[in-house]
Amino acid sequence: MALTYTATATATIAVDVAGAPYEVRIAPGLINELGHAVRPFVRRNSVPVVTDEHVAAQWRARVDQTLSAAGLTGHWLVLPPGEATKSWTFLAEVVDFLIAAEIERRDVVIALGGGVIGDLVGFAASMVKRGCGFIQVPTTLLAQVDSSVGGKTAINTSAGKNLVGAFHQPVLVLADPATLDTLPSREVRAGYAEVVKYGLIDDADFFAWCEQNGPALIAGDMAARTTAIARSVAAKARIVAADERETTGVRALLNLGHTFGHALEAQTGFSDRLIHGEGVALGMVLAARFSVRQGLMHGQDAERIAAHLHSVGLRSSIATLDLGCDGRRLADHMLHDKKMDAGTLPFLLMRGIGQTFLARDVDLGDVAAFLDDELAR
Ligand code: NAD
Ligand code: GLY
Repeated sequence: MALTYTATATATIAVDVAGAPYEVRIAPGLINELGHAVRPFVRRNSVPVVTDEHVAAQWRARVDQTLSAAGLTGHWLVLPPGEATKSWTFLAEVVDFLIAAEIERRDVVIALGGGVIGDLVGFAASMVKRGCGFIQVPTTLLAQVDSSVGGKTAINTSAGKNLVGAFHQPVLVLADPATLDTLPSREVRAGYAEVVKYGLIDDADFFAWCEQNGPALIAGDMAARTTAIARSVAAKARIVAADERETTGVRALLNLGHTFGHALEAQTGFSDRLIHGEGVALGMVLAARFSVRQGLMHGQDAERIAAHLHSVGLRSSIATLDLGCDGRRLADHMLHDKKMDAGTLPFLLMRGIGQTFLARDVDLGDVAAFLDDELAR
């Protein structure tokens, strides 16, 4: 593959977590310099790299080339793509691979891929030798703006998504927006929902930036992608530094749209009918409209959010999803949400764009009635 981008427009963001601060570097072309970037973290010439088949097909040769230029060799484990890989089976496979590679605590493994690979490899790294290092090289927009930063790692079990995991921070994150050139556009759109999320949480100016630049970003504009990733990571780094383990409620703001979204994903069987970011987009619209119904926010703000997501090709209504259920059934899915706290479900609601807050007094009966109306909209 030709070297199309050079790493000129760079951003470096510090994630200031206690005891183990680390950097997120963002630049188009950064993947070409991966070898030199990881060199200071590596103590042996052979470096374990875990990825999935889709990413390997597009980027393995490039990564081998840059590792070799830095005097390193990639020792690869290539896993099947897809959410099902975040499982006990593949966790064991990654752990066995790292132990066979004789990884030590101060060594690193590179997680090259989207949120599935990052979550799985990060979790394996949290347990091998009671915790070894890992470097995130996120290759989806979702992973570059969200999952590669902040140290949440997990697998899914038969009881639900992300139910088993650990907080384990990476030692370095290298995000190259140019790797998104090979990402299917549906995945780019889905990841974009998480970008918009940061504007809705507490940055109305960034939401306005998204309205101006979102369509160009989706179409492939590298400057827009780089800016969006840098602003998103800066927001996430600030939130994670304030509440690394989600104990004070600050980090919980990152779950905006996720409670409604999770119910929609559950109803569609966590399948390709609705991928995670698409669920989050719809979930944010529902959180906004529910906030309007509760008298918290102006209707025009909620419709502005829906219009923007719709303008970039994301669904903004659940009426056409063909869910085959009523509002009560969707609300019931929420009872299994891992955010349940002493029998109540905290909801992220809005007083306006950029004014998200955690509400602990939401009545699920009201949510069910609201969802009935949305299904009939
Ligand atoms: P993913 O990792 O499954 O990637 C999506 C698809 O894109 C896969 O088919 C993958 O093979 C392919 N792909 C990845 N990079 C590519 C590239 N550059 N070119 C071509 N194809 C590429 O999905 P995702 O959306 O990145 O991540 C979803 C996961 O992230 C979920 O499991 C979710 O729970 C998790 N998540 C974790 C956090 C966190 O804080 N840890 C936050 C949000 C989401
Ligand atoms: N994506 C939610 C979090 O990192 O807390």
